[in-house]
Amino acid sequence: MEEQGKQQEIEIEEVTAQENVIAVRDLVPMRAAMDDSMERIADMKDQFSQTIDPILRMYNAAMCATTARLEIIEDEFKYRKLRCPIHHIDTRLKSAKSILGKLQKKDLDLTLSAACNNIYDIAGIRVVCSYIKDVYLIRDRLMAQDDVMIMQIKDYIETPKENGYRSLHMVIRVPVYFMNKKQLVPVELQIRTLAMDLWASLEHDIKYKCLYQTETENFSEELKECSRLIYEAEEKMEIMNRTLEA
Ligand code: GTP
Ligand code: MG
Repeated sequence: MEEQGKQQEIEIEEVTAQENVIAVRDLVPMRAAMDDSMERIADMKDQFSQTIDPILRMYNAAMCATTARLEIIEDEFKYRKLRCPIHHIDTRLKSAKSILGKLQKKDLDLTLSAACNNIYDIAGIRVVCSYIKDVYLIRDRLMAQDDVMIMQIKDYIETPKENGYRSLHMVIRVPVYFMNKKQLVPVELQIRTLAMDLWASLEHDIKYKCLYQTETENFSEELKECSRLIYEAEEKMEIMNRTLEA
């Protein structure tokens, strides 16, 4: 396995230009936008869900638009009668409650503007591939699309996390016409192989079942070992596939 822990984060394009800032006031009714403190609105549940509703719809649109781009890639491989680089795609939209929780955790203003311009995983897509080379093929295909802005890439395959987590993370901005205005909406992609997905899913499950710190600590070495074993098995199968697809 590669050197662990020193994950290199590539900030590709700084989000400073005005056009990259999501102007919440253009999206939600004016009265609600003026009073967009999430803390206050959260107390008034109906009003809160109404206020965040158009924002979540915009993120949902960005998620669908990105999924459509991935499905076009899938279709191309079907048409070419080649093995498809994508095994399956999962999507999830962050709930209003979880957006609020993340703002609090990150000590940010509890406003919709702070959410839109600081939380990049409101729209999340997980692309599960068969082999490692497929992960990079998907990355390259997205990077080659000239209307997709690459905001960030974290390569936890090249440099796995200390706990054994492996995946390629990308934050992209995709254009969405919403309320008759073009918005460049962030979408987080986690691109990983089936083997990486197996480890991450089970690790997530185990981590959340651990009630005590000692349990978490006891399992961390074992989880690292599982990551290594899964990686070894994956490597062997990658080699077999390379021989066949050479
Ligand atoms: P955020 O502000 O949440 O984006 O924090 P970050 O940028 O430090 O996190 P990162 O981009 O590294 O990871 C974001 C997502 O990747 C998480 O929400 C998980 O879905 C997944 N992830 C990251 N690390 C792990 C891990 O150790 N185990 C599992 N199962 N998933 C992970
Ligand atoms: Mg992140």
